[in-house]
Amino acid sequence: MSDLERYTITMPRELFESFDERIRRRGYKNRSEAIRDLVRADLVREKAARPNQRAAATITMVYDHHHHELNEKLTAMQHDFGELVVSTLHVHLDHHNCLEVLVLRGQVRRIEALADAISVLKGVKHASLTITTEGAELA
Ligand code: NI
Repeated sequence: MSDLERYTITMPRELFESFDERIRRRGYKNRSEAIRDLVRADLVREKAARPNQRAAATITMVYDHHHHELNEKLTAMQHDFGELVVSTLHVHLDHHNCLEVLVLRGQVRRIEALADAISVLKGVKHASLTITTEGAELA
């Protein structure tokens, strides 16, 4: 970080002590780094709530590959949303279950549409979406 601003923060003692305890437990070396992370997390959350923003994201899912035509449907869906899909990781968990992670980049609205479409497919046991930032705006 080349350009630092210094702030003084005022808060009730009890809140301050709880925060201090929490950041000690998490292993932060100092309060400033903990507060920077909170601010970044808030900026990412805000971005994820704006459908026209661009973001990076992952969808993590577990599905039963024996389920009728599920593989074909998942592949077709990833082609339909091909402009989003940067990379996929596939792990054969056991005889039935596959773990797949899609790495995505694009408009939040499209990312959420793909996540919704995947999670309602029969045979998909669990799907979770994490929207994060492309990074440039966070120092
Ligand atoms: Ni598999």
